[in-house]
Amino acid sequence: MQRLHKLLLEVGVGRWLLMRCDHSFGNCKPDYSQLFINNEFVDSVSGKTFATFNPATGKEIIKVSEGDKADVDLAVIAAKKAFHRNSEWRQLSPLQRTALMNKLCGLMTRDKDLLASLETQDNGKPYAEALFDVTYSMLTLQYYAGWTDKFFGDTIPAGGFTSMTRKEPVGVVGQIIPWNYPLLMLAWKWGPALATGCTIIMKPAEQTPLTALHMAALAKEAGFPAGVINVINGFGPTAGAAISEHPDIAKVAFTGSVDIGRIVMEAAAKSNLKRVSLELGGKSPVVAFDDADIDFAVDTTHEALFSNHGQSCCAGSRTYVHEKIYDQFVAKAAAKAKERKVGNPFEANVQQGPQIDQEMLTKVLGYIESGQKEGAKLQAGGKRIGNVGFFVEPTVFSDVKDDMRIAQEEIFGPVQSIFKFSSLEEMIDRANNVQYGLAAGVITNDINKALKFANSVDAGSVWINCYDAVLPSTPFGGYKHSGIGRELGKDGLDNYLETKTITMKLL
Ligand code: NAI
Ligand code: MG
Repeated sequence: MQRLHKLLLEVGVGRWLLMRCDHSFGNCKPDYSQLFINNEFVDSVSGKTFATFNPATGKEIIKVSEGDKADVDLAVIAAKKAFHRNSEWRQLSPLQRTALMNKLCGLMTRDKDLLASLETQDNGKPYAEALFDVTYSMLTLQYYAGWTDKFFGDTIPAGGFTSMTRKEPVGVVGQIIPWNYPLLMLAWKWGPALATGCTIIMKPAEQTPLTALHMAALAKEAGFPAGVINVINGFGPTAGAAISEHPDIAKVAFTGSVDIGRIVMEAAAKSNLKRVSLELGGKSPVVAFDDADIDFAVDTTHEALFSNHGQSCCAGSRTYVHEKIYDQFVAKAAAKAKERKVGNPFEANVQQGPQIDQEMLTKVLGYIESGQKEGAKLQAGGKRIGNVGFFVEPTVFSDVKDDMRIAQEEIFGPVQSIFKFSSLEEMIDRANNVQYGLAAGVITNDINKALKFANSVDAGSVWINCYDAVLPSTPFGGYKHSGIGRELGKDGLDNYLETKTITMKLL
């Protein structure tokens, strides 16, 4: 938590959060549970519902409407109408779009405790972290609100012609998001889509629909015209597939697993060649050199992995430590993991809540078992905590070898794997020897080592002497199997724009 507060202070909004963090807010009942189509909350066509659960207790929070193809079709009709060249939305000036987005941010600030509470109930993350996510989501939308009038085309030297490019919104976009940062992933996707003037069909993860529904209500209150934003709760193979296969959706943005990323891309190819951006998994290396302050290195690598319960696409899940400090580092890392406070995410000072569901609990425990079987040394944790909710002990393995499953596959849980290395060159080769390439970190006081590593590692983001420093303005995305395209920053707009070249002959 201290890390989060520190990061917010560094970007200049910390005081606001530090003053207003109210741990006693606790559980609250969600106001919205239906689908959101054409600015109305409606039941699904089939009338079906499904339950969303609190992972800290395993208990149902509420039943939400279950959308499917028929509902996606209705949402697309509304979104197409809202995208028509003469629609209210398309007729707004860029600055009017800015104003709407900023109004939404104001409403998020008003409802931040409610949004954070919904997120903590639905996802299990500590309340202070949920509040941090609300702040960051709001900052992301604010950042993109400033872009509405700044995506310029070019004028091109063309002899007897006058040639220019226009950047135009791609159209109706599908956005399929995961459960690990439900609100933040929504903001990363709504921000550039709204700034460019697209219209949206969003499918939140089946585990965490609640903040997206509240955001839909806030969007209506802010004054977004009907059909600009639609939210369809539902499952992947039904509602998700209906989005990626839809012939009238011009672009799909997906965050989730590599396997589903492939399915989404294939569906996009087979249907209408819709544009695809994918933000998939990772197996990110974080390297501690022997010249670094060892406690700083232990703390940074600890947070890099354990933050958000290890359920982060850019989790620093391979800790590489120089052989000279290895034994001391492992002892300190294990002690730190044992100190991590796990429990009720609404309690102050709790650093780790439950994993998202039974499936992920089983998966994480399976990886811990495989690490032990393959010969890694368990230095901390290793077990489930209690039998209510999906809590896992912060776990540390040392003596991890590159070919073990825990070294290659995304665990997506609180399991730190510590590897030993002796030279920079050897370590870079090993760091790159996985299918992923999302992020990397390096801790050293030697600028040459830091930059050589940063320039050579296969990763979309590299953090030097910090980790997870993702800002609304910094592009984020993966090399190799970690994805296609970049979100955030100026680059994030590209996913939502077409380039039109207009050439005029002077007569
Ligand atoms: P997933 O990739 O199955 O789910 C992500 C989203 O895709 C959800 O909204 C889901 O409903 C949707 N989806 C599922 N099947 C679909 C389909 N056929 N067509 C369209 N959409 C579909 O991820 P899941 O099952 O929640 O987690 C599995 C693993 O994925 C995790 O263990 C973790 O390794 C990785 N993961 C990575 C994330 C990231 O941030 N990159 C986030 C969540 C999971
Ligand atoms: Mg899945």
